Amino acid sequence: MSVRALGYAGFSVKDVAAWRGFAEGVLGVAVEEAEDGGLRLRVDDRAWRIAVEPTGADDLAYLGFEVEGPAALKELAARLVSAGYTVEADDDLAAKRGVIALSRCIGPAGIPVEFYWGGTQAGERPFVSPQGVRGFVTDGQGFGHVVLATPDIAQARRFFEDLLGFRLSDVIDFAPVPGISLRLVFLHCNPRHHTVALAPMPAPKRLHHFMLQAADFDDVGRAMDRARKAGTPFANGLGKHTNDEMVSFYLVTPSGFEVEFGFGGREIDDATWVPGRHTATSTWGHERLVGAPGAGE
Ligand SMILES: [Fe+2]
Repeated sequence: MSVRALGYAGFSVKDVAAWRGFAEGVLGVAVEEAEDGGLRLRVDDRAWRIAVEPTGADDLAYLGFEVEGPAALKELAARLVSAGYTVEADDDLAAKRGVIALSRCIGPAGIPVEFYWGGTQAGERPFVSPQGVRGFVTDGQGFGHVVLATPDIAQARRFFEDLLGFRLSDVIDFAPVPGISLRLVFLHCNPRHHTVALAPMPAPKRLHHFMLQAADFDDVGRAMDRARKAGTPFANGLGKHTNDEMVSFYLVTPSGFEVEFGFGGREIDDATWVPGRHTATSTWGHERLVGAPGAGE
């Protein structure tokens, strides 16, 4: 048994007000106030998908992976323990996250990783985008994907593939700057082409970017219009990725890591999928518009 989806993520941020304006005004996700002085972002009928916490690191604080139930949670915890990870069940944290049961450990690159089942459904408060976004693709696919800086790529692959049950989607070998070759590893745990991608490099932040997938292509264009109007820095212009075929653009969030806003990501059927290799991140576009090289996908 493996994890089913990326259910939620927590960001530790310095400027909650900037995040509020960015999330509501540019991304068009729904924003609710949290008791901790932060925000809870919604993109569907789950109670929340991203916690924006006023703890100041401007980086990923934790990832929450959903499993199918108590047996799966127990089995996963046992697998992690037998591989040397310290796993703790945490009822207080489960209550805080609004899930029925939760265990946590410290994953690759020191990233706190939580596993849970029974996330809060909030259909009585349907998701309504403040910008009229007609919906995000989450059904059976989690809320999106994350690209993580994991310098010890072998350890990270053991964690996600051998222990969490992710499967290899493909790799991209590319040179972000001349003379340096990087292999990005893309992993899936449901039909979404990748839920986690691993970049084998030290980076100032654990999180290179997270991705939200609009259900309607026009919402990508409208988000670009809102970002331009708001003066939000673009990290990459519009483009199409080689491997997941996502048409997307990237913005720099108020915390410095990036967000990919896309449409049309391909879906994987494990019965027929064969992992491949690419040598470019994009078939067209995705022009880099800020200083630091991108991790592509
Ligand atoms: Fe991406």
